[in-house]
Amino acid sequence: MNICVLGLGYIGLPTSLLLAKAGHEVTGVDIDEGKVEQLKKGELPFEEPGMKELFKNAKENFKAKTSVEASDVYIIAVPTPLDSSLNIPDMKAVKSATEMIGPHLSDGDLVILESTVPPATSENLILPILERYNGGTDFYLAHSPERAIPGNTLEEMRNNSRIIGGLDEKSAEIAKSVYSSFVNGDIHLTDIKTAEMVKLMENTFRDVNIALANEFAQIGEEMGIDAWEAIDLANEHPRVDILNPGPGVGGHCISIDPWFLSSNSTTSKMISLAREINDSMPNFVVNKAREMVEDISNPTITIFGVAYKGNVDDTRKTPALKIIKLAENEGLNVRCYDPYVDEFEYELYSLEDAVKGSDCIIVVTDHEKFKEIDPESLSKQMRNKRILDTRNILHYKKWKKAGFEMNITGDE
Ligand SMILES: NC(=O)c1ccc[n+]([C@@H]2O[C@H](COP(=O)([O-])OP(=O)(O)OC[C@H]3O[C@@H](n4cnc5c(N)ncnc54)[C@H](O)[C@@H]3O)[C@@H](O)[C@H]2O)c1
Repeated sequence: MNICVLGLGYIGLPTSLLLAKAGHEVTGVDIDEGKVEQLKKGELPFEEPGMKELFKNAKENFKAKTSVEASDVYIIAVPTPLDSSLNIPDMKAVKSATEMIGPHLSDGDLVILESTVPPATSENLILPILERYNGGTDFYLAHSPERAIPGNTLEEMRNNSRIIGGLDEKSAEIAKSVYSSFVNGDIHLTDIKTAEMVKLMENTFRDVNIALANEFAQIGEEMGIDAWEAIDLANEHPRVDILNPGPGVGGHCISIDPWFLSSNSTTSKMISLAREINDSMPNFVVNKAREMVEDISNPTITIFGVAYKGNVDDTRKTPALKIIKLAENEGLNVRCYDPYVDEFEYELYSLEDAVKGSDCIIVVTDHEKFKEIDPESLSKQMRNKRILDTRNILHYKKWKKAGFEMNITGDE
């Protein structure tokens, strides 16, 4: 098939290359001219395991452009950010991508929306635009939300199960034939609105359950109970699976998608409450950190990890940013260290410079590399040896032995 993919980001580009490798003729379209030029030169705009090799193997069937070409299938994978002043999804890119497809749409073509959207977007926003261009002729429309995780995108795109919602049965069936060319996981067909809802429910489930774990951690501290131990023990129950508390959630899915469900609803309560709890965790962390350095004049804290989760360089919506800003507003000096991240809003220091003369380390990200740090060598460089571990990842006894005063959020 001739397939045109709009949006060559973390989702659209790997999808394009997987389709090209499967033998389709793929045109990748992006409004970012720099990105298109880069791809034309054979350079990838971002790293993902296996992408370089896939790009090499798929090149023959893939071309990058800034404008849409008439195709059999159009896939929309453009961003759907949150307007954070209103907590309402911003559908500008989805609308403009649909407008770009409109003039090329012919009878029998299929449009698939992959971007994460509020329920009913395909029918209420996309369908009328396409009908306006096409005069209501015979095209197909489907929604297939993406579940792949950065850092393991290709593997998950190939092997995760996939949901496809069709405007009608035929739309879902044709979309299935497109994805079957590279997806090994099960493909489940449903209606278009259900598919939109499923994706949002998945991330909302995680957000609400993390909020519950965070609330348990806060109650644990109030009551003098080690919430981590209590959670471990509760999880011995065959039907209980409590998640880990932490400094708040980040990334552009879990911290955003729940708003896509609740923003149009007049009845939803738990979803926005969970958002509130998770977004307030940085305040909880900074309050604790402040208490820990109360007795020190002109204290310096060192943030370990600015990525929103372990072992990745992704800092989008990271709770570290709020922690740093709040701490600075409280008069604390802040230095950041992250062995995985190259670029961030704040200066990133080497490990040695980040801890030199510091009074307290706050572990914000659960990077594996933090577990390998030798506490003995750090202890000589710090002015005061204090740690707040918001992820409970450090080897407690080892750090204590090196003279550190250890604090874990959620511990008594
Ligand atoms: N990245 C993930 O891990 C992930 C996972 C699941 C779902 N999603 C969803 O997938 C969608 C895409 O996310 P992403 O991470 O790939 O975004 P991204 O920001 O990495 O890439 C989007 C690309 O679309 C381009 N673009 C914007 N408007 C366009 C238009 N009108 N025509 C063509 N290109 C246009 C941008 O220039 C950018 O290159 C979003 O809805 C996101 O929520 C992402």
